[in-house]
Amino acid sequence: MQKNIRWGILGTGWIARKFADALAVAQGCELYAVGSRNAKQASDFAAEYKIPKSYGSYLELVKNAEVDVIYIATPHNLHFDNTVLALNHGKHVLCEKPIGVNKREAAEMYRIAAEKGLFLMEAMWSRFLPHIIKTKELIDEGVIGDITLLTATFCVRSEHGPEHRHYNIDLCGGTILDIGIYNIFLSLFLLGKPAGFTASATLSNQGIDTNCSYNFTYPDGKMAVMYSSFLANPDVVAEVHGTKGSISLEHMWFCPGRVRLKTKDGVETVLSFDVRGNGYELEAEEVAECLHAGRLTSRLWTPDDSLMLAGMMDEIRLTCGVVYPAHDF
Ligand SMILES: NC(=O)c1ccc[n+]([C@@H]2O[C@H](COP(=O)([O-])OP(=O)(O)OC[C@H]3O[C@@H](n4cnc5c(N)ncnc54)[C@H](OP(=O)(O)O)[C@@H]3O)[C@@H](O)[C@H]2O)c1
Repeated sequence: MQKNIRWGILGTGWIARKFADALAVAQGCELYAVGSRNAKQASDFAAEYKIPKSYGSYLELVKNAEVDVIYIATPHNLHFDNTVLALNHGKHVLCEKPIGVNKREAAEMYRIAAEKGLFLMEAMWSRFLPHIIKTKELIDEGVIGDITLLTATFCVRSEHGPEHRHYNIDLCGGTILDIGIYNIFLSLFLLGKPAGFTASATLSNQGIDTNCSYNFTYPDGKMAVMYSSFLANPDVVAEVHGTKGSISLEHMWFCPGRVRLKTKDGVETVLSFDVRGNGYELEAEEVAECLHAGRLTSRLWTPDDSLMLAGMMDEIRLTCGVVYPAHDF
């Protein structure tokens, strides 16, 4: 039997908790250590999730010789430094999205991982969810014909103050990197790289985007129409329309969910999928599988996929004037 992959979680915020829950059901995985800027926070987290080791600094965490892979769960501005810290201590890394604040950072992170012979993947968890994979299969099989239009939204009214990572420019806040990234991922995953795009945003006093819309155009006439917002709460849905039918992804489309397939003759089929945990276990299992197979990158969410996504977000931010002073393009 293969040895379990031993995980260390770096950061103890919202997503760290979801990931800890997921690791409890992820096959071939074991949550072994946690690191926080604060020792008490780390030990409380460890007690709650029954984690053997806890550390009051990220450095101590990555120095633990028993840990195989570090999950980076910090704000965007820290992904580069935290990932490089882990890689420099010989750890494989799963880094939360966006893997870097921009394409330059992302490319450098992948370069360092490759140079050191270590695994690195962006935690684009939706890529591993069965309803997203099924949507791609249905499109590739021609079930809804030639694609004409994709629409995707990701909006969450955020009541946090200006210091929170949603709004804080020093933490690289804004909808594009935080939630718009999912819309952009979906269109790139399903339709590929666009030939052109338009984008516009409303900016906060700090200069981060609070509303943003972005449309992608393709040579064959199809289009992707997307928006993200921290100011409004419309349904978070996605649809793909084709010449023979359409596919609708229900509210909270980026989480495990159902797909409605409608064909031109009016027949509607609802497709449901079983997921063992909250869905994050699937990306963790992909990491474990890659490590067991000796692969340094995922074939399902590759460095090139991450870099194309990062490059699109760079272009959209440049168009909208969303610039993070400490993270030049
Ligand atoms: N995949 C998903 O579904 C999903 C969902 C939400 C968020 N995310 C991503 O996960 C990352 C973290 O988001 P989150 O919502 O978990 O954030 P969060 O609740 O604010 O937690 C971030 C953690 O990072 C650490 N940290 C280090 N320096 C910090 C600083 N200057 N300010 C605030 N926190 C700092 C803190 O942990 P310690 O105090 O323990 O060091 C904090 O608890 C982001 O990259 C976000 O895009 C992904």
